[in-house]
Amino acid sequence: MTDVSNAIRFILNDEEIALTDVKPDTTLLDWLRLDRRLRGSKEGCAEGDCGACTVLVGRLADDELVYESVTACIRFVGSLHGTHVVTIEHLRGQDGNLHPVQQAMVDHHGSQCGFCTPGFVMSLYGLWMRDSAPGQASIEQALQGNLCRCTGYAPIIRAGKAISHYGRPEDDPLRAERMALKQKIMAIHDGSRVELGEGADRIIVPASLDDLAAVYEANPTATIVNGSTDVGLWVTKFMRAIGPVIFINHLAELKRIAENDSEVRFYAGVSYSEALPVIAANFPDLGELWYRIAGEQVRNMGTIGGNIANGSPIGDTPPPFIVLGAKLHLRRGGHRREIKLEDYFLAYGKQDRQPGEFVESVTVPLLPAGETFACYKISKRRDEDISALCGAFRVFASDAGTVGMARIAFGGMAATPKRAKAVEAALVGKPWTQETIDAAVAAFAEDYQPISDMRASADYRLLTAQNLLRRFFLESKGQGQRLRREVA
Ligand SMILES: Cc1cc2nc3c(=O)[nH]c(=O)nc-3n(C[C@H](O)[C@H](O)[C@H](O)COP(=O)(O)OP(=O)(O)OC[C@H]3O[C@@H](n4cnc5c(N)ncnc54)[C@H](O)[C@@H]3O)c2cc1C
Ligand code: FES
Ligand code: FES
Repeated sequence: MTDVSNAIRFILNDEEIALTDVKPDTTLLDWLRLDRRLRGSKEGCAEGDCGACTVLVGRLADDELVYESVTACIRFVGSLHGTHVVTIEHLRGQDGNLHPVQQAMVDHHGSQCGFCTPGFVMSLYGLWMRDSAPGQASIEQALQGNLCRCTGYAPIIRAGKAISHYGRPEDDPLRAERMALKQKIMAIHDGSRVELGEGADRIIVPASLDDLAAVYEANPTATIVNGSTDVGLWVTKFMRAIGPVIFINHLAELKRIAENDSEVRFYAGVSYSEALPVIAANFPDLGELWYRIAGEQVRNMGTIGGNIANGSPIGDTPPPFIVLGAKLHLRRGGHRREIKLEDYFLAYGKQDRQPGEFVESVTVPLLPAGETFACYKISKRRDEDISALCGAFRVFASDAGTVGMARIAFGGMAATPKRAKAVEAALVGKPWTQETIDAAVAAFAEDYQPISDMRASADYRLLTAQNLLRRFFLESKGQGQRLRREVA
């Protein structure tokens, strides 16, 4: 029998919080600004894009407190159980003066109107704690999710490079607090389930993975909230009611990554940031694309499980994972089943998932030797933009140059992420040559009838998909000039 407690407990700066009356859709930003009158964190967009609301959230990972930047506007208070929330108000220097990050921003003219500044400071603070002397690429990455409309980025980046002249992370007051905080946070994780509220106001924070399975089976109409980077917008942009809610992003069992010689298994709570080193090591081309998923705050929150579960036709993980032959592991109560990832997406907004069933993990086979794999994201902006289309390609050509296997999948080209089976058929058994590619591209029109929307027209999408196949071919022959960004 699982113990049940009735309070969301966490630490806000240096204060212990226990909330017994909080709504499922109360965002951290609203709670900070309206309930706590902490107005340093700003609301710019309320959709995770601008970073003005950035705070740090410290959570236990392998018994250490790990701090990550997150966007408070789309993070729900109910998801904070057992964490340490650090806002701009908690930053201070050793002697009570400005914090080194703040002083560097002042001295390098990193702020004009100041609206974005707390968010930039918190993102730079998070970076400085793990890298005291960051270079250009690290700073750009850490600031991908912060927008400034008046200062411009050069002074802010200069400030980021200069922080080490103002102080050392070892002397940071938060570091000194951490040991005591860790003990308090460990005490919050006492193995009990948290439940509060009634009906649509009900919040459930399961005690474990098995507890989640039991709770969701018993409450199949509840909304699972993982990293909340999609669900957050249902609330802030679409005013949708989401309760009752089951928060799952604290479950250590869902944060596992299991690797062996033939495959990698990502459990559903693994965030983009957590997955990155494993993705980059095993699928380098996908590792590059990973940096183009959202900005750092959203990568710290958003999960692979959420990206797949939501069934979006423009999610960035399904096309490459489908091409790699991923399997999806679903669970309802004690019953588990495994399906091919590509079979999960049935139609727009419809997935092969039963009431009370959740995504437990996804297994991605490693690429066999001799195969060529690449993926491409096409969007209007390089950073923090949703794909107009996202394509993944994988071929095996024999020593004689004949295509033995071809797998191609796209997002943004149909109502679901979808394989290009007609194009694949036009390649298999043919020589891997320019002539074969020129003949095969016509088959894209059989596979896809894309729509026109604000991201791209149907014609643009079709032509771009064809050109990506041409590009993939040229790159496989060492002829393409790959435009690569510098990655930290
Ligand atoms: C600013 C911004 C930029 C973004 N950029 C990108 C981008 O570049 N590329 C991209 O692909 N996406 C992007 N997204 C979308 C989003 O980050 C991803 O889809 C993310 O992976 C969702 O994961 P999550 O954990 O936040 O899901 P949540 O928001 O928590 O949940 C999403 C959906 O999945 C369900 N769900 C979650 N986990 C499970 C589970 N284990 N079992 C069953 N159901 C589950 C939820 O009930 C909900 O329906 C962006 C979002 C924002 C806010
Ligand atoms: S207010 Fe813009 S990211 Fe939160
Ligand atoms: S200083 Fe004005 S938006 Fe950045």
